Amino acid sequence: MKALVYQGPGQKDWIEKDKPTILKPTDVIVKITKTTICGTDLHILKGDVPAVTPGRTLGHEGVGIVEEVGAAVANFKPGDAVLISCVTSCGKCANCKRGLYSHCDDGGWILGHLIDGTQAEYVRIPHGDNSLYPIPEGADEEALVMLSDIMPTGFEIGVQYGRVKPGDTVAIVGAGPVGMSVLLTAQFYSPGRIVMIDMDPARLALARQFGATDTIQVGSEDVVAKVMEMTGGLGVDVAIEAVGVPATFDTCQKIVSAGGSIANVGVHGKPVELHIEELWIKNINISMGLVNTNTTPMLLKTLGTGKVDPSKLVTHRFGLNEMLAAYEVFGNAAREKAMKVILSA
Ligand SMILES: NC(=O)c1ccc[n+]([C@@H]2O[C@H](COP(=O)([O-])OP(=O)(O)OC[C@H]3O[C@@H](n4cnc5c(N)ncnc54)[C@H](O)[C@@H]3O)[C@@H](O)[C@H]2O)c1
Ligand SMILES: [Zn+2]
Ligand SMILES: [Zn+2]
Repeated sequence: MKALVYQGPGQKDWIEKDKPTILKPTDVIVKITKTTICGTDLHILKGDVPAVTPGRTLGHEGVGIVEEVGAAVANFKPGDAVLISCVTSCGKCANCKRGLYSHCDDGGWILGHLIDGTQAEYVRIPHGDNSLYPIPEGADEEALVMLSDIMPTGFEIGVQYGRVKPGDTVAIVGAGPVGMSVLLTAQFYSPGRIVMIDMDPARLALARQFGATDTIQVGSEDVVAKVMEMTGGLGVDVAIEAVGVPATFDTCQKIVSAGGSIANVGVHGKPVELHIEELWIKNINISMGLVNTNTTPMLLKTLGTGKVDPSKLVTHRFGLNEMLAAYEVFGNAAREKAMKVILSA
């Protein structure tokens, strides 16, 4: 089979590899029908995630058809259409029992990281019973691919951890696929205002189409002054960081109102300066974390009822064997006006 393989910093190849086989009775082999590329894959390619070693197949998102199941798999059989979660979980350990799937004793984010991932013709999914979801009849498969990672990430770590409430003023810093997922799922709670902040005017225009009431362009406007002016000097109820650099966390701590929340979604590689001397008196909450994907069943329901349509995040489509061309487009997202790419087998 063909797979997108990490060959060390800056190097990748679409090459022939052995088809995965069942290694444990709880494994499921899935034939990929649709997959995508995540910003995290670009981080890995830069060499930012040293746990990924040369030879690893990348990718942690996708949908497919069950090809083969291990002897202990109860919920799936060959031929079933499935959604693959970016987080693998056994469903039985203490952390899984409390919904903290990202810290499963025998799972977590391992796909395309510690084990071979979904940017391939076939993938082995450990603990298939708990890490796969049946695809509802008639569901839009492109929309479903957004439920592997970015939608639960935006919803759980941005919206739920940030405690978005009806009427709130919410600021989202970073209008990438994750920030856009925050924007889409925040609307479940009817916030009063959603302010999207980014430097890319094309992404800000898209954010307005997706429900942002206001946008602020970093670089051409003073973000903090603008937010304070919009909110009568109070700041926002919820400031959501969806970039992963010190400057954007700093923006969040400057614009959060008394009694508000900062929800950090971005993956950080450098420390940030926490202004506790200003924040302690403001009764705020700060949260952060790795997506658990415990809300995937809920998101599947909202998709089914048309409450949210994440397929609008898809801007480019390729064949699975055009993987390198898809990386070229996604890796130059601003130039190509790309948000999410879909690769179909
Ligand atoms: N917590 C989790 O479980 C989890 C899961 C998935 C992704 N993430 C992280 O979420 C973050 C966002 O992911 P993404 O795929 O949307 O990333 P992305 O790189 O596609 O998008 C980031 C956006 O931030 C904007 N940006 C960059 N610098 C900025 C600045 N100074 N001010 C305002 N905007 C700025 C960019 O223009 C871009 O639109 C990343 O750090 C990613 O690693 C976290
Ligand atoms: Zn991802
Ligand atoms: Zn577990």
